[in-house]
Amino acid sequence: MKLLLILLISLGTVNTGKVLVYSPSISRSHLISNGRIADALVDAGHEVVMFIPEYEPLTEFTGTKKAKVITLRNFKHILATRYADFDDFGKLMLTISRVGFMERLEFENTMADMCDDLMKRRVDLEQLRDFQFDVAFSEQIDLCGVGVIRYLGIKNHLWISTTPIMDNVAYNLGIPSPSSYVPTIEDNDNSDRMNFWQRAFNLYMSTGTQIVNLLATDKTTEVFRKYVPDFPCVREIAANSSLCFVNSDEVLDLQRPTITKTIYVGGLGVSNETKPLDEKFSKIMSKGKEGVVIVSLGSIVPFGDFPEPAKQGVLEAIKEMSDYHFLIKIAKKDETTKTLITGIPNIDLVAWLPQVDLLSHPRLKLFVMHGGINGLVETALKAVPQVIIPIFADQQRNGRMAERRGIGKVLSKLEVGKKNFKESVLTVLKTPSYKKNAIRIAKMMREKPFTPEDRLVRWTNFAIDHGVLEEFHVEGSRLSGIVYYNLDVMFVVFVVFSFFLWVLVYVFKFLLRVIRLDVSREKKNN
Ligand SMILES: *[C@@H]1O[C@H](CO)[C@@H](O)[C@H](O)[C@H]1NC(C)=O
Ligand SMILES: *[C@@H]1O[C@H](CO)[C@@H](O)[C@H](O)[C@H]1NC(C)=O
Repeated sequence: MKLLLILLISLGTVNTGKVLVYSPSISRSHLISNGRIADALVDAGHEVVMFIPEYEPLTEFTGTKKAKVITLRNFKHILATRYADFDDFGKLMLTISRVGFMERLEFENTMADMCDDLMKRRVDLEQLRDFQFDVAFSEQIDLCGVGVIRYLGIKNHLWISTTPIMDNVAYNLGIPSPSSYVPTIEDNDNSDRMNFWQRAFNLYMSTGTQIVNLLATDKTTEVFRKYVPDFPCVREIAANSSLCFVNSDEVLDLQRPTITKTIYVGGLGVSNETKPLDEKFSKIMSKGKEGVVIVSLGSIVPFGDFPEPAKQGVLEAIKEMSDYHFLIKIAKKDETTKTLITGIPNIDLVAWLPQVDLLSHPRLKLFVMHGGINGLVETALKAVPQVIIPIFADQQRNGRMAERRGIGKVLSKLEVGKKNFKESVLTVLKTPSYKKNAIRIAKMMREKPFTPEDRLVRWTNFAIDHGVLEEFHVEGSRLSGIVYYNLDVMFVVFVVFSFFLWVLVYVFKFLLRVIRLDVSREKKNN
């Protein structure tokens, strides 16, 4: 049997290719998802280089454990200087409901400036040319990667949407996104069921997002044209991507139209094996009469960033839920929260936790999280019910997605306080349907045909074997708005219809006159 397998593998189209993964160090979660892709491809036998332009100062963490890493360090850190108060980013995000379009545009412009900085150092990119990559991956956070890959002469681009299909990905690839039931990704607190006002808001968000996308990508194209005069528009290069790997799961995600290029790979690299916990965490997990609740809001906005009253409220609520033990992840330097918990016996604070292993623990009853897609997919895979406190980016939408599947409940970040926190946590803990749904969803995610690794590897091999997958290009990605929406056809129909209507009215009026004339003539004759 084993021999047969080995024979099959060596006879089959198991090929090794050279793969580039372009992954700017914009945030830890993006490095994690890009790193998982790189690692899965290394496991499949490919030679993978993860190229990390250091948009933000890089720690030793690169997201990949297996791929060769090439970093481009010592940028001027426009990002860091322009957002000098970046440390207060979390505090800001917890006081405003969403980021405005002007701020988004400013961020996009900063990214284009980063791209310019990168291209100024294009001699450092030459080392990548020597690898002669077969395919190159880049993600949707900006289109600089798309441009760099073209600049390096790599023809076969594979796109990554690090969130559920991002709006700019959908727009550029020509994936239909009817705004009546497909909520935009960023800062949009809607699911696929929207009332009149929600649909109006979604239409507004989708229009604004598209305008920001057009302006931002034009700016990125300009950057490349500074160095290569006839460089194509980066949107057109992106539209020609052979495939797009989407960091989401189709069982969990809101249903929406997709195209052949969109391959869902959410859950990639999340082990289904249960690793034993170390002594510290085993001990924590044994506490609490009814079980343990974890509170972890991600790496960008830690728990300590909540305003004082909200934080106090949460801690008081926890004190009252004494049947449960709470494990809260805080920032390393967060001394305030450490002081605040004195006298509350059912809390442990940690600066790091083995999330996937804890999620597998049978005594874990609930995960209170921010709704980042990686954490959400991991939690769903482990059948743990959730309370989601969305903070920014795709998190609000992701929260509604978990609600739609009946595996979690959203608590608005602006309404976090003693009463609301306690109510949300107890609702999910005490309503059996959450756990029941979580078990069903997890089982479906695990047992659906083909694992995320299978899909990633087999489709990547396919792209390596066949080159640019032109056959998958969607014509809609190349049409102007007028043609896409058939506005020209509708205009002609309108003109023709109006003409006929006019003729009809004219004929009718004419007949009316003739009849009147007849009648008056008869009267005269009488
Ligand atoms: C995109 O692909 C088409 C062929 O399908 C090709 O004609 C066009 O030049 C490509 N555009 C870019 C920017 O590479
Ligand atoms: C984990 O997944 C692999 C393959 O996807 C499977 O062979 C294995 O049995 C699974 N293990 C558990 C504990 O479910």
